[in-house]
Amino acid sequence: MKKLAVFVSGSGSNLQAIIDQIKIGEIPATISCVISNKKDAYALERARKNGIQAIYISRRDFPSSLEYEKYLVNFLKSQKIDYIVLAGFLYIFSEYFVEEFRNKIINIHPSLLPAFGGKGMYGINVHKSVLEYGMKVTGATVHFVDVVPDGGPIILQKAIYVREDDTPETLQKRVLEEIEWKIYPLAIKLLCEDKIEVVGRKVIIKDKEILKKVGIEI
Ligand code: GRF
Repeated sequence: MKKLAVFVSGSGSNLQAIIDQIKIGEIPATISCVISNKKDAYALERARKNGIQAIYISRRDFPSSLEYEKYLVNFLKSQKIDYIVLAGFLYIFSEYFVEEFRNKIINIHPSLLPAFGGKGMYGINVHKSVLEYGMKVTGATVHFVDVVPDGGPIILQKAIYVREDDTPETLQKRVLEEIEWKIYPLAIKLLCEDKIEVVGRKVIIKDKEILKKVGIEI
């Protein structure tokens, strides 16, 4: 059983998808804590409803980012966390934090990275930009977190077609429901089952068969 810490700032629909898969025994892990930097994040409520330790802790409570991150590192190490799962967490960790948990932090981003990633590319902005560019496909990416925002080694990606009548809102909904809620729990399952190997930028998935569950054939 692996121990996870999930970082959130918003509604936590991805957190919910992960909780649901853990509950039915698909992911061999427990969520030790859900940490939010937004007090009113609905994700905290979801954690409480599921009996998971829900913690609100903001950068603003500390004199510097380094102090904030040092506090988090100590806390996560004291809890013996195996993997840190970012699920809509609006904060960019520094090199210090990322190096403390090399290849142990993962994130999901609602586009096909490296397109539509980086500074300012979060939430509905991503989907607006995709439509403004006139993209015919979009999707989501699960990746390891390194020092470059949205730039770490890619674990899983899946695409859908953009429709001519899509709005940023319809696209956001379809990317969440058809892709994110499926590929993020699966990536976490693979990670917790030790079926992921990182070789430089290349991520090798050792169980290809299981990817078919979410419509990925490689
Ligand atoms: C998702 O679109 C995710 O890709 C991005 O932030 C959003 C979080 O949504 N990183 P939710 O809080 O999981 O509903």
